[in-house]
Amino acid sequence: TDLTSLNTLGLPARAQYFCALTDLAQLDALRADPEVAALPWHVLGGGSNLVLPDEVPGLVIKVALMGRTLMGEDEHAWYVSAGAGENWHDFVQWTLAQGWSGLENLSLIPGTVGAAPIQNIGAYGVEVKDVLYGVHATDLKNGERRIFSQCECRFGYRDSVFKQEEAGRWLISEVIFRLPRQTVLHTGYGDLVSEMQRAEAEPSPQALAQAVINVRQRKLPDPAVIGNAGSFFKNPVVDAATHGRLQAHWPELVSYPFGEGWFKLAAGWLIDKAGWKGKALGPAGMYEKQALVLVNHGGAHRADIERLCQAVQASVQQQFGVMLEPEPVFW
Ligand code: EPU
Repeated sequence: TDLTSLNTLGLPARAQYFCALTDLAQLDALRADPEVAALPWHVLGGGSNLVLPDEVPGLVIKVALMGRTLMGEDEHAWYVSAGAGENWHDFVQWTLAQGWSGLENLSLIPGTVGAAPIQNIGAYGVEVKDVLYGVHATDLKNGERRIFSQCECRFGYRDSVFKQEEAGRWLISEVIFRLPRQTVLHTGYGDLVSEMQRAEAEPSPQALAQAVINVRQRKLPDPAVIGNAGSFFKNPVVDAATHGRLQAHWPELVSYPFGEGWFKLAAGWLIDKAGWKGKALGPAGMYEKQALVLVNHGGAHRADIERLCQAVQASVQQQFGVMLEPEPVFW
């Protein structure tokens, strides 16, 4: 099966075997077949944080578990459940239409609901961990079903247990969110402040969602038009000494305090400063409006992405002594 249209970087890739999972019971059937069970299995969501090889050996399972419901409520919150295969942005807009807030800052993030907890998606001062209540998962090997509490997911910056010690083990089937009745608008992020002012909108979850959509559409390439996987690197976290050394040399360094004694550097600024903004290496390049986004100008393969990734890492390492870590998952 051709996976080119199933990954937002638009990399040409073929899966040896492929199936779309619309019912969890299908997993039991797959496991019951010894030939299928012996293959390596890969779980695919929206393919928006993924770098694929030309040939994917084994079985690719595209998660297509649907459904969204209000599971319960108490005096403080609504508990809302969504199938892992639901489109993330559509789900966010649906919660807003129901009058539930909490996810507005995460509007227009590509991908599926089931992928959101894996790297703890985040934008404009909010991360999915802030409103996530639990994750339903099934062990791919033995079929064990388990609910991970928010705490058990061990969320970090673009990180979770599903990317670390439990990587590759679980298929996430459903995610439960706890959306507070008390609306708290996170409008502090620089770009959003100016966008809200420009729109002269009354602050509301819907207005905030629209501001986020506007900012993202201005800065980030639409994967339907130009292949990309969002931010290609994490913003590196450095200690205060390193931060001080860099700031002494580059007073215009863009950074944010990140807990006691640590700073997060804007990787986009480092890449920009290193001269890579709008630059290409073969068919892949760093986006002209946001240097942190790696784009496929057409015809790129995984090898081209890796070559550019390593070249950017080497430049930034050489100039700033900081190692950039890729954000997407490489299969
Ligand atoms: N900058 C430059 N040149 C550039 C790009 C950025 O100098 O080409 C500097 C600017 O000063 C800018 C700062 O870097 O103010 C930060 O840039 P931006 O606000 O665009 O955010 P970011 O740090 O590049 C992060 C997330 C995004 C998220 C935005 C908004 C990471 C790796 N990325 O980007 O998430 O949308 O903040 O909250 O944390 C993603 O993960 O795929 C993603 C798009």
